[in-house]
Amino acid sequence: MVRLPLFLLLASLWLGAFSAVVNMPGGLSRRHPLPSSFEWTSTDILIAPKDDSRKLAGVKDPSVVYFEGQWHIFATTAKGGSWNLFYTNFTDWSIANDAEFFYLDQSPIGRGYRAAPQVFYFEPQKLWYLVYQNGNAAYSTNPDISNPAGWTAPKTFYSGMPKIVEENIGKGNWLDMWVICDSENCHLFSSDDNGQLYRSQTPVSDFPEGFDEPVIALQDSNRFRLFEGSNVYKLGDKEEDGYLLIVEAIGADGRRWFRSWTMSAIEGPYTPLAAEEENPFARSNNVAFEGKAWSKDISHGEMIRSGYDQYLKVNPAKFQYLYQGQDPEDGAGVPYGDLPWRIALLTQTNTA
Ligand SMILES: *[C@@H]1O[C@H](CO)[C@@H](O)[C@H](O)[C@H]1NC(C)=O
Repeated sequence: MVRLPLFLLLASLWLGAFSAVVNMPGGLSRRHPLPSSFEWTSTDILIAPKDDSRKLAGVKDPSVVYFEGQWHIFATTAKGGSWNLFYTNFTDWSIANDAEFFYLDQSPIGRGYRAAPQVFYFEPQKLWYLVYQNGNAAYSTNPDISNPAGWTAPKTFYSGMPKIVEENIGKGNWLDMWVICDSENCHLFSSDDNGQLYRSQTPVSDFPEGFDEPVIALQDSNRFRLFEGSNVYKLGDKEEDGYLLIVEAIGADGRRWFRSWTMSAIEGPYTPLAAEEENPFARSNNVAFEGKAWSKDISHGEMIRSGYDQYLKVNPAKFQYLYQGQDPEDGAGVPYGDLPWRIALLTQTNTA
């Protein structure tokens, strides 16, 4: 038995009582269709760098949609501290690693720093959007997701780094832009590796123009607890089921993991769901591997959606999450820009 100092014991009793209140049916938070803890299985590595002239160190930050019988994946290429994007497609996860990569620096997206893509179909304009970071919050559009040469040159959502980000970023990085729309507004989330999650919005009819000065959506004085890699999704089709937010954190063991919140509207307030290392949304301690436990990091990626449009709907009955992981032995002592990130799929094994 572990002996807890008295103040920790009291603090955890108090927190326990508090979370019981907020989770009570008819209590402070709206009802949501999710369990209060999660369990997952992980596949082996599904997507790895090709043995080609690019000699990539890692493939990371996947975004995924299922459209017209194909999985369409956009992800980051990493080598020596340089980042760009690639596209790949396949009909089934079992053949994912056989699919070719189309390096998006061959499209008008061009060379240079581009990372952390998010893809969705913006139904009002009948256009696919690829949102990514290039030092600013950037996007490209394409009428045909299966034509990777067809993406437009980068444009940005903001004229430069917003003032509130400048004021709070410290020694962090402004990154991991994420767009989700409701019937009235499109919302743009971003992180600063320094404990802030930002959100700004624009009317759907103005998108992609008009994003206002961001607000701080969530904040933590420990920057590692609210680090980067946020995803926001609509839970199912019913309005009352609300939304899910997940944010990537760095754990006490130095490994990446995800915290989660629910909310009845995209603008919050955000109620913690599974948000601690002992009860994570996804972390090495709630993931069972089908083969070798090849990664201790459960890091930046995204949920398998039930649709592909700007509403970013997911099926709350059973989540699947496409993530980046790395073999701790291969990654030991390797600089951040050359970490051996690989892509694999989590499937939730418990239900509400
Ligand atoms: C799959 O990707 C390739 C580029 O690598 C593209 O030429 C092809 O049209 C895509 N196929 C589908 C069905 O999207």
